[in-house]
Amino acid sequence: MKGIILAGGKATRLYPVTRAVCKQLLPVYDKPMIYYPLSALLLAGIRDILIISSPNVLPRFEELFGDGSSLGIKIYYTEQEEPRGIAESLIIGEEFVGNDKVCLILGDNIFYGDSLSEILQEAASLKDGAVVFGYYVKNPQRYGVIDFNKHCKVTSISEKPKIPKSNWAVTGMYFFDKNAAKIAKSVKPSKRGELEITDVNSAYLKKGKLKVKLLSRGYAWLDTGTHESLIDASVFIKTIEDRQGLKIGCIEEAAYRMGFIGKKQLLNLSKDINTTYGEYLRSLLDER
Ligand code: TTP
Repeated sequence: MKGIILAGGKATRLYPVTRAVCKQLLPVYDKPMIYYPLSALLLAGIRDILIISSPNVLPRFEELFGDGSSLGIKIYYTEQEEPRGIAESLIIGEEFVGNDKVCLILGDNIFYGDSLSEILQEAASLKDGAVVFGYYVKNPQRYGVIDFNKHCKVTSISEKPKIPKSNWAVTGMYFFDKNAAKIAKSVKPSKRGELEITDVNSAYLKKGKLKVKLLSRGYAWLDTGTHESLIDASVFIKTIEDRQGLKIGCIEEAAYRMGFIGKKQLLNLSKDINTTYGEYLRSLLDER
């Protein structure tokens, strides 16, 4: 399975912070935001990853990750000229994905919870169709919202409905079979002029090929799109990390635990980081 991180967009809800700075490079406590979705892909076992972003910021991501070899993975980069919708990333990534399956994750999404790795790996093992996650939220009208019938079967997904039919939102991590780009190409731009990922998910649903896995309340799916949610996410990460002494979204640790790199490479990655982050990486080497 291939991975795509979509990390473009205008981030207007964070203005003026993001007028000259890319949202997905902003810190969420002790690491850049994009570390969180990247670590989720690594934990899903995905090692071929395409980062899609706007032309002016793409070089910053390349500076951060290079070709990915230091993490034992391969990272490629492609531009999205304008933010024309989340589903456009599947078309941009078509050649990269080829005949493979793909996991698309948004560059500003944070997932945390018990056995997350197993859940992601299970989703990544899909044979055909698509798998998305549902998460119970207070303000569903900002997301793709899932509607269920009385037998708890998913009947539809509506994008940013004024009157949501449930509190279950579709998160920003989607697993698709090899047909995703073809389906995305058949989608027409919405009223706001975007290729909506909800339309891709709905197309899978219509064919009876969409699996919606509901994440229970023990999971955190954090949004970082506004000033409030960004600081809330930082505080959440800091609280858990301080309490446990374990990091969330640490890409080096994920690569090490997944066996993509060994002790020597982990030590190398920590070498010029003279902060608690670097200390943490070095402490993993002594772990029993
Ligand atoms: P949004 O939160 O919908 O958009 P945004 O980040 O530009 O923020 P705002 O609403 O404040 O203007 O996007 C979700 C994620 O997807 C985010 O990481 C940006 C990314 N994205 C793209 O890279 N390209 C796109 O065309 C769209 C729609 C989103």
